[in-house]
Amino acid sequence: MRKIIIAAALTLGTVLPFGAAQASTAGAEPPHVDFSFDGLFGTFDRNQLKRGFQVYKEVCSSCHSLKLLAYRNLKDPGGPEFTEDEAKALAAEAQIPTLDDAGEPTTRKGTLADHFAYQTTPQEHATLKGAYGSIPPDLSLMAKGREHGPVYIHALISVGYEHEAPEGVTIPAGGNYNSIFPGGVIAMPKPLSDGQVAYAEKEIPQTVDQYAKDVSAFLMWVAEPKLEARHRLGFGVILFLGIMGVLFFLSYRRVWRNVDH
Ligand code: HEC
Repeated sequence: MRKIIIAAALTLGTVLPFGAAQASTAGAEPPHVDFSFDGLFGTFDRNQLKRGFQVYKEVCSSCHSLKLLAYRNLKDPGGPEFTEDEAKALAAEAQIPTLDDAGEPTTRKGTLADHFAYQTTPQEHATLKGAYGSIPPDLSLMAKGREHGPVYIHALISVGYEHEAPEGVTIPAGGNYNSIFPGGVIAMPKPLSDGQVAYAEKEIPQTVDQYAKDVSAFLMWVAEPKLEARHRLGFGVILFLGIMGVLFFLSYRRVWRNVDH
């Protein structure tokens, strides 16, 4: 059984595009980041999720979709918790492709029911593929789909672009050196620079590092919107097991009290 699993993993590894090329400069270990949602009691920082959404919207969304996220989710408990009116206003900013009465392509205003998939029409995919040589993947589950999840994403879009390609690594046209990306050459151009996104909270640094942290936290929530509920449940179960354990021990003592053993 184990052999089968290993064989399947190896086959997948060679079929999937990432990590296949130039294994010599394989992705470096991403530097650790402390996130508010780490650990048993971890919760999302609402303001950080709102900022992360802003970074996604203003920067990443021009290339990446979030097909599993709908505008209505922005007001769900456990997430960035925008108000209903705010979520509606954000949806209304989006231009959703549709057809008019004559069957001609047009756009309409977004609603709470729409998903963040509007830039992924086949034509736009083809344009992005033409421009970057690779289709920007949907990011809905990216924070769960990569080892180190949000820590990896943070490093990939920040420190990953800080180094020159080492001696001997040739960067193909349209490629960019990234020390974190497996293989070292990524189609995504460096997406962030200092001061690029204007945060309303002035005390928050407007740096690549901060943007990367915020958008990674946001993508973690997108990939696991029930994280807080799961943490609460986990804690409840452990508490329950602890109390049950004590009760069982006391009753064991009582039941065997008068028996020699
Ligand atoms: C100009 C277009 C563009 C923008 C803007 C962009 N990306 Fe990308 N991204 C790409 C492309 C193209 C790829 C595919 C790279 C490859 O496979 O070589 C990619 C891949 C990724 C990956 C997958 C890496 C992996 O391990 O497979 C992540 C994560 C990612 N981008 C996050 C982001 C985030 C977060 C932002 C916003 C801060 C962003 N991207 C902005 C084009 C873009």
